[in-house]
Amino acid sequence: MSLSAASDWSIAPDGVDARSVPQRRLYTGALMPAIGLGTFGSDHVTGAEVAEAVKGAAAVGYRHFDCAAVYGNEHLIGPALQEIMAGGVPREELWITSKLWNDKHAEADVIPAFMKSLTDLQLDYLDLYLIHWPFPNHHAPGVDVTSRDHAARPYIHADYMKTWRQLEILVERGLVRHIGVSNMSIPKLELLLRDVHIRPAACEMELHPHFQQPALFDFVRAHGIEPIGYSPIGSPARPPRDRMPGDTVDIEDPVIARIAARLGVHPAVVCVKWAVQRGQTPIPFSVTRRNYLANLQGVVSDPLTDEEMAAITGIDRHCRLIKGQVFLWKEGQDWRDLWDEDGVIAQ
Ligand SMILES: NC(=O)c1ccc[n+]([C@@H]2O[C@H](COP(=O)([O-])OP(=O)(O)OC[C@H]3O[C@@H](n4cnc5c(N)ncnc54)[C@H](OP(=O)(O)O)[C@@H]3O)[C@@H](O)[C@H]2O)c1
Repeated sequence: MSLSAASDWSIAPDGVDARSVPQRRLYTGALMPAIGLGTFGSDHVTGAEVAEAVKGAAAVGYRHFDCAAVYGNEHLIGPALQEIMAGGVPREELWITSKLWNDKHAEADVIPAFMKSLTDLQLDYLDLYLIHWPFPNHHAPGVDVTSRDHAARPYIHADYMKTWRQLEILVERGLVRHIGVSNMSIPKLELLLRDVHIRPAACEMELHPHFQQPALFDFVRAHGIEPIGYSPIGSPARPPRDRMPGDTVDIEDPVIARIAARLGVHPAVVCVKWAVQRGQTPIPFSVTRRNYLANLQGVVSDPLTDEEMAAITGIDRHCRLIKGQVFLWKEGQDWRDLWDEDGVIAQ
C-alpha cells in the first residue's frame, strides 16, 4: 500500500491524516491500517446509514472497512467506495475485507459467493477474504438464539479445508490479496496451519477489555496471523438476542472510566486505543461522525501509560458476548462447545 499517495480529499478539516494512522505489516509484507470501520448495522442501523458512515469515515481518515455478505449492505457500500475513490483516494490505499457466509461453504458455492461480494462492493480485488464462521450451519439473519439448522453439523476439518482451498484459488487468480479466518479456536487453527497451501493472514475474533482471549491472541501472533478484534467496545448496541444475564459492560468498567476521565474522552475511545496499543486491529462500528472521528483521533494521540495498559490487562472478565448459539448442532449442547475451551474440537 502506498502511503505517500494519500489524497487531500481524505482530510476533513477536523480529520486525521490517513498517513499518521498505525499500520500492521502482514506476513506477505502488505500494510493494513491498524483500525478499521465495522459495517454490521445489527438490526437497528440501515444499510444506507452504514454506507453514509463509510464515506464520512473515509473523509476523516479511515482507510480500512470490515464488510461481510451477511451484513446485507455490500451493494450500498460499493457505491460509497466508488465515491471515495472518485474523490481521490487510490484503491491501493484502501483495505477492504469481506467474509464468506455459512450457507456458502460448499466447494461450488465459494467462488460465486465471493464474486457476488466483489461485484456488490464494485471492486476488482479484495484485500482480505475471511471464512466468517467455521461451521456451515445456516440460520436466517435476525433469528432468535434458540433457532437451529436441522442439517447442522460440528466442525469437520476435511470440509473446512475444501472451503479453504477455494479461497486459495481466489488468491491464485489475483482476486484477493489475503485470506483468513474468523471465530476460530487454537485446536482448529492448528489443523488448518498443518494443511494449508496459503497461510491465513488474519484471524478476526472477539476482543475487548472484558474479553481479551490472551491464549488465542498470543497463538495467532506467534504464527504470523494478524488478530483483528471485533466488538472492540463490547458491542453496547447489540440486539437483545445477543444479550445474556451475566454479560458485563466494558464501557462502564471503573478502570476504563477512570482513564476516559483523564483523557476527556468517551470510554469507547479508551477501548479502541487500548486495542491498537495492545497489538490487535480493532474494527469499531459507528455511524455517528463524532464517535468514529473520536475513535480514530484516539489511536493517533499520546499512548496510554504502562500503568493504564497493565490496569486494563487486569480487568479481563473472560466475558464472551457473541456466543454463537445458533451454530450448535445437537440438543443439550452448551455454547461453550463451539469454542473448544478444553482444547478438543467438540463433535
Ligand atoms: N467476524 C465476526 O463474526 C463479527 C462479529 C461481530 C462483529 N463483527 C464486526 O465488528 C464490528 C464492530 O463490532 P460491533 O458492531 O459488535 O460493536 P462495537 O464496535 O464494539 O460497538 C459499536 C457501538 O459502539 C458505539 N460507539 C462507537 N464508537 C463510540 C464512541 N466513540 N462513543 C460512544 N459510542 C461509540 C456505536 O454507536 P454509534 O454508531 O452511535 O457511534 C455502536 O452502537 C461490526 O460492525 C462488524 O464489522 C464481526
